[in-house]
Amino acid sequence: MTDPNLSHWWQPFTNVRGFRQNPRLIARAEGCFVYTPDGRAVLDITAGLWCVNLGHSRREIADAVHKQLLEMDFAPPFQFGSPVTFRFAEKLAGYAPPGLDRVFFTNSGSESVETAMKIAHVWQRARGKAGKTRFIARERGYHGVNVGGTSLQGIPNNRKGFPTLDNVDFLPDLLDIPANAFSRGLPQQGANKLDALEKLIAQRGAENICAVIVEPIVGAGGMVPPPVGYLQRLREICTRHDILLIFDEVVTGFGRTGSVFAAIEFGVTPDIMTTAKAINGGTVPMGGVFVHRDIQQAIFDAAPTGVPEIFHGNTYAGAPVAAAAGLAAFEIYEREGLLTRAAGPIGRYWEDALHRLRDIPHLIDIRNYGLLGAVTLAPDPAKYPGGVGVPVHNRCWENGLLCRAVGDNLVMSPPLIISEAEIDLFVARLRQSIRDVLG
Ligand SMILES: Cc1ncc(COP(=O)(O)O)c(C=O)c1O
Repeated sequence: MTDPNLSHWWQPFTNVRGFRQNPRLIARAEGCFVYTPDGRAVLDITAGLWCVNLGHSRREIADAVHKQLLEMDFAPPFQFGSPVTFRFAEKLAGYAPPGLDRVFFTNSGSESVETAMKIAHVWQRARGKAGKTRFIARERGYHGVNVGGTSLQGIPNNRKGFPTLDNVDFLPDLLDIPANAFSRGLPQQGANKLDALEKLIAQRGAENICAVIVEPIVGAGGMVPPPVGYLQRLREICTRHDILLIFDEVVTGFGRTGSVFAAIEFGVTPDIMTTAKAINGGTVPMGGVFVHRDIQQAIFDAAPTGVPEIFHGNTYAGAPVAAAAGLAAFEIYEREGLLTRAAGPIGRYWEDALHRLRDIPHLIDIRNYGLLGAVTLAPDPAKYPGGVGVPVHNRCWENGLLCRAVGDNLVMSPPLIISEAEIDLFVARLRQSIRDVLG
């Protein structure tokens, strides 16, 4: 096959001009590896983009998608529904945190976030609290790229220069390297950062606040686990002030933490939960918003009869092909025990392997939880104004490792099927790449 013309696809979140000079093409993928067009194997320590939790190119999912496409390629989800999608929603509901057994399908994490915002809003109106319109998010948080999610963005580059809502406040960033460097699992220090939430509520008035949205573990912002007690206190404050709590589990969902959801892992139940990515192993675009049944009921009770209870949704929401992929993915999740695998020996192996990197002089922090990991390199703004992560990430690719750079951090989220030997390979390649770039 001839090389593709690189001029026409404007890739997302990509330095396109740089890419055209030095393209990183991925042509094939299997298990924990991706392959360049010339056949070079690269270890994928990011599970694609935190989504390929079952490993790449699972035959059962491919077969299910093929069968579904031949049986019924598409069915309109507005005023109609396909059995396969109802079956998948029921399957998901069986795993939902207590009460969150109503699932609104979307096509992405970004759409899940917008949907959650709208449902939260509609619910407040439905119960006569139309004044509760403000949202509270958190610095360093990532909630997708649509206008609602952009407004909730705690990562400045993803927000600045774009149109945003003006009804959002931010909680303080949880990353506190001086206090928590090299913590294993949850860090000890930081639950007191929620004092800022109490202050915000006092300042804005609980009667004006619709919802707080957080990632239970920060993902795209640099993989930051919550301090011990933080999520429990967050739940308590939201309940006390009659404010909805939304967990954005687009990254933490589907086995990443060692439980099916972080909400279950940490024993903290939100009112609404956004998901996407690994919902069907990252194979067919799909997201799902898990909503507490009482919230749905209140919205239904307040809606006029004979019309949609919510005037919202997407053409491909709950597409039969995506749902068929999801059912096949869950067969694998269940059969291979992947939804809890990260809580077992492989999670401990991952933690130990990651923390063995501590002797590298350029590292100022290592973080881990479940099958999530991050290292932070000492910043060097004079030499690397965009962060030290990018040159190391570029070198990793050349050394056969696909990882992800966030400023001075490298973040990891391997496929949940990863083996001990593959973890060892990752550690060796990352160590080598840091040495190649930083000496
Ligand atoms: C926590 C979180 N929310 C939302 C999104 C947006 O998802 P998508 O890229 O599928 O729109 C992401 C994507 O990485 C995410 O990490």
